[in-house]
Amino acid sequence: MRGVAVVDFGSQYAHLIARRVRELGVYSELIPHDAENLLEMLERSYAVILSGGPASVYEPNAPKLPENVLKKLIETKKPLLGICYGHQLIAHMTGGVVARGGAGEYGIAELEVRMEDKLFKETPRRQKVWMSHRDKIVELPRGIILASTRYSEIAAYRLADAPVYGVQFHPEVRHTEYGMKILENFLLKVARCPRNWSMKDMVEHMVREIAEKYRGGNVLMAASGGVDSTTAAVIIARAVGYDKLHLVVVDTGLLRENEAERVVKTLKKLGFKHVHLVDVSKLFLQRLKGVTDPEQKRRIIADTFIEVFEEYARELEKQFGKFTYLGQGTIYPDRIESGRAGRSSAKIKSHHNVSMSRKLNLKLLEPLADLYKDEVRRVALHLGIPRELVARHPFPGPGLAVRILGEVDEEKLRILRKCDTILEEEIRQANVYEELWQAFPVLLPVKAVGVMGDHRTYGYVVAIRAVKSEDAMTAEFAKLNWSLLEKIAARIVNEVEEVTRVVYDITNKPPATIEFE
Ligand code: XMP
Repeated sequence: MRGVAVVDFGSQYAHLIARRVRELGVYSELIPHDAENLLEMLERSYAVILSGGPASVYEPNAPKLPENVLKKLIETKKPLLGICYGHQLIAHMTGGVVARGGAGEYGIAELEVRMEDKLFKETPRRQKVWMSHRDKIVELPRGIILASTRYSEIAAYRLADAPVYGVQFHPEVRHTEYGMKILENFLLKVARCPRNWSMKDMVEHMVREIAEKYRGGNVLMAASGGVDSTTAAVIIARAVGYDKLHLVVVDTGLLRENEAERVVKTLKKLGFKHVHLVDVSKLFLQRLKGVTDPEQKRRIIADTFIEVFEEYARELEKQFGKFTYLGQGTIYPDRIESGRAGRSSAKIKSHHNVSMSRKLNLKLLEPLADLYKDEVRRVALHLGIPRELVARHPFPGPGLAVRILGEVDEEKLRILRKCDTILEEEIRQANVYEELWQAFPVLLPVKAVGVMGDHRTYGYVVAIRAVKSEDAMTAEFAKLNWSLLEKIAARIVNEVEEVTRVVYDITNKPPATIEFE
């Protein structure tokens, strides 16, 4: 399919660029900078975007575009946009000078647009952009400067004689206020790309990709009822056939009130043929007995999950025949290592993937591996997955265990579930559920005194965590209405006997995380 080629020079955002282009309705593909038939692929595309990257253009081994490729693109007036490293690379290869700057420029900067140009159409003269660089262009003989920041005089340019642009900032990152508009201007106004990519295309593309990979046999998948695994399951089922896909819902005993049954019911309603519920709550509680360290809790839960899942898979094989694939709802952010050992969903999920697929000798099917959460949600709606499920707040793999600080036991789970049900009811009633990324109670391992009637009481303190976020990488505490909080607190203390006090968490992420453990 013809589209926009995004040449990857190793930036963590390269992927995001391709995705943003698709979001704007134009098909786009990520291409390695050293691809064999690079020139051919670039010539075929409507436009080319050069991504950022960690190297410095003047280093001897820095990744480059072959001279002849760039020359040909410029000569043939191929619309070209260099971002960050790509911006510097074009300058460097067209006779300009890139030098190491002083301290560098990281984070939000104010960009001043100095020249009218299609690229900045319908954006203000001063705008906030996201920067992340140390090197900068200091000379640009063939270019016209379009915009500057305090630190980078040449923050955006175009070549005088070709539709070739460079921007030092990252338009693909949400912190760049008019980033999407700038990309749209490049795609539609400069390059005049046709809008050839819709949600329907995207779904068909994903189904086709899975179908091409699939060579027969049964597919096994752990289903949580969350939007990622459910959406992945629908795509896989469409590609391999509903009778080949087996969904396993594991009740770890660490789920919310009636969650496991609800998930099974929803999945059956969605038309899945083989939905299996395994209740292993006793085993999980046993293994968690006496464990207070958060990392250890997470490890035990992950290991036990894998063990149970494997054992159950072998049982199923006796009945249904061999499994050849493992389906997974892994999404793009799951694949970006967060660096915090053991706690990120990435770690847990990749741990699951690698161990489970290896031990069971299964090949992976991950139809959503290139998508972000909001994209998955749109795909899910397009697939006819009910809005109720699509809008559901994320729930961590280790479940309520990371919301009970200290040792987990049956009683604490029961208390927390009651609080959770009340909180969700009130948040929904107040019509704020969908504005929040997550809202949940946390049972603290301390007790406090209260008074009810003529009695002094002594019971648990529950913290309420409610956050707004785009992608869980950063989050701000939700400024919930005082009367709503008052109502939640009153209901929890009145209806959950063991709780005497409710506090509200007002920390952002960073420095805090969303979950408490
Ligand atoms: P933190 O607490 O790291 O959480 O700010 C970021 C997001 O990830 C969710 N989370 C998890 N999801 N397995 C998951 O599938 C996990 O182990 C896990 N830990 C945290 C958390 O709920 C939040 O949305």
